[in-house]
Amino acid sequence: MANITKSLLNQQLDALLTDEHDLIANLANASALLKQSVPDLNWAGFYLYHPDEDELLLGPFQGNVACVHIKPGRGVCGTALTSQQVQVVPNVHAFVDHIACDSASNAELVIPLTKDGIQIGVMDLDSPTLNRFSSDDVTELTAFAQVLLRHLDITA
Ligand code: SME
Repeated sequence: MANITKSLLNQQLDALLTDEHDLIANLANASALLKQSVPDLNWAGFYLYHPDEDELLLGPFQGNVACVHIKPGRGVCGTALTSQQVQVVPNVHAFVDHIACDSASNAELVIPLTKDGIQIGVMDLDSPTLNRFSSDDVTELTAFAQVLLRHLDITA
């Protein structure tokens, strides 16, 4: 992603979420902003962690229909949740246990969303292009997730 979008994207998110407090509305707008602003994505959205069921459940997204339930530790999303580490996958076909929701996906970036020790879920971006996500992209999109988290009113 070019530097020109760097601060602009996160400024846009900040402006979009200012004074808005509904979780679903904010994630819906964040997914739309990602899909319309980040080049070369076929899917962008969120899985939300539900502690009672101990699973990730499909949240707001832009893209093709997707898997609804993902267990912690499974797939790229479940791995990001369990490890609490950003997962950058240059080639999803080489990722053991990748969950194929959209056959167009070839690369994936998943960022865990945790605030004040509470696991909210993960942000998931899929691209049809192998090696799509550079370290600059990871830095930028991790910052995007931080802006998002700042705006989410989450209480235990
Ligand atoms: N590929 C993900 C599943 C979600 S979709 O990409 C939208 C995974 O392996 O966890």
